[in-house]
Amino acid sequence: MAVLSAESAMKPENINEIVGSDRNHLWHHLVQHKPWQSTDPMVIVEGKGMRVKDANGREYLDAVSGGVWTVNVGYGRESIANAVRDQLLKMCYFANSAGNIPGAQFAENLVDKMPGLSRVYYANSGSEANEKGFKLVRQLAAMKNDGKKHKIIYRDRDYHGTTITTLSAGGQAQRKDQYGPFTPGFVEIPHCLAYRDPRGEDPDYGVQAAKDLEKVILAEDPDTIGSVCLEPITAGGGVIVPPEGYWETVQEICTRYGVLIHIDEVVCGMGRTGKWFGYQHFNVKPDMVTMAKGVASGYAAISVLATTEDLFNEFLAEPSDKMHYFRDISTFGGCAAGPAAALENMRIIEEENLLDNVVKMGDYCMDRLHELKDKHQVIGDVRGKGLFLGAELVKDRATREPLDENLVAGVAADCLRQGVMIGRTNRSLPQFNNTLCLSPALICSKDDIDEIITSIDIALGNLAM
Ligand SMILES: Cc1ncc(COP(=O)(O)O)c(C=O)c1O
Repeated sequence: MAVLSAESAMKPENINEIVGSDRNHLWHHLVQHKPWQSTDPMVIVEGKGMRVKDANGREYLDAVSGGVWTVNVGYGRESIANAVRDQLLKMCYFANSAGNIPGAQFAENLVDKMPGLSRVYYANSGSEANEKGFKLVRQLAAMKNDGKKHKIIYRDRDYHGTTITTLSAGGQAQRKDQYGPFTPGFVEIPHCLAYRDPRGEDPDYGVQAAKDLEKVILAEDPDTIGSVCLEPITAGGGVIVPPEGYWETVQEICTRYGVLIHIDEVVCGMGRTGKWFGYQHFNVKPDMVTMAKGVASGYAAISVLATTEDLFNEFLAEPSDKMHYFRDISTFGGCAAGPAAALENMRIIEEENLLDNVVKMGDYCMDRLHELKDKHQVIGDVRGKGLFLGAELVKDRATREPLDENLVAGVAADCLRQGVMIGRTNRSLPQFNNTLCLSPALICSKDDIDEIITSIDIALGNLAM
């Protein structure tokens, strides 16, 4: 069949053809396709502000910023589209061994928001940015001590990406299942979710949980540990804000044993939690920070690895050695559309005071979630920071037995039927795919939050347990 022109494809009368092409030829992410043999896939055709429209013309309030906490400044931003268009016409691409104008400008603006960090390395996805961080650790170990300090520590429940090596650093068992064998040299530490830890009620739980890191470093031999890679606030693992004292103790331990701190800001970066970066809520000085989703709010594919000048300088030390520099490239790290979109995205966040809005609306949403918890026994715990929130559902509040994941999925489906898209932990953690997730765009209003909360309230009321 002839493919429709771009203009015809946008016409409502042709939408069935588009849905047919999708159903017959696309292999969607994270989807079991069998049910789509008898029903149509959802095709999103339009977005404006907080709302998207599907192929049937049905409108939804998007409480998850494009499904996976990405479209931070909302849909339909003409100024970002124009910035990208202008840049593409002037200079679309050149390998990043050379520079480009928005790439240089965005690097300068970005490090301005990250005191202590000064170098920016571009890539295309969160996974890839994290892999760059892992490669730096491995190469540094090779250059400085015969490869000994090569191990990378990650935490149970954290996620760092979809490639085999980032899955090797992944603390979500169901994401890893059936994809091994994995890259050697990755070591797990326990999560720091007080609600799911027998020590969680202790006033110094945060320090105790962080000391799990020290135990692992000592057991493995500190001379073999290169870095620890952590999410500042765990996202897909259940929205886990580390307890008080956690990050500060992690910092002390890493300083003591000469372990680099790699913070994965792929979700929290660019304002989601009410500061530019999630780690900035805590007293910690990262050596590396990776970011992706909100960097250009999904208007272009871009990810970043930002590092300290000290780390960068390690790779200058032996210019006479032909192998002593970071021998890494990603073709599309040279796309100029990414930094052009990112520059405008950052300008919007500043000009519209969106960080303030995140703090205000995040507090409001948290209060409203607590009201829901008072009303519905099925909510066991409410967590989050800024516009990054989660509600963990339980079968029994006293025993904290998790709610069956099919029922949790049913709550999200009920909200969708009501016209509100919410998220949930999804095939990540055996038994613990039981957290509803909210991550509306940073522009959201009280009315939007009320609409989201009302839909969850109704859906929880409909739960047949
Ligand atoms: C914390 C975190 N790191 C890394 C990634 C991987 O990013 P990407 O899907 O862009 O490779 C994700 C994706 O959800 C994430 O949540």
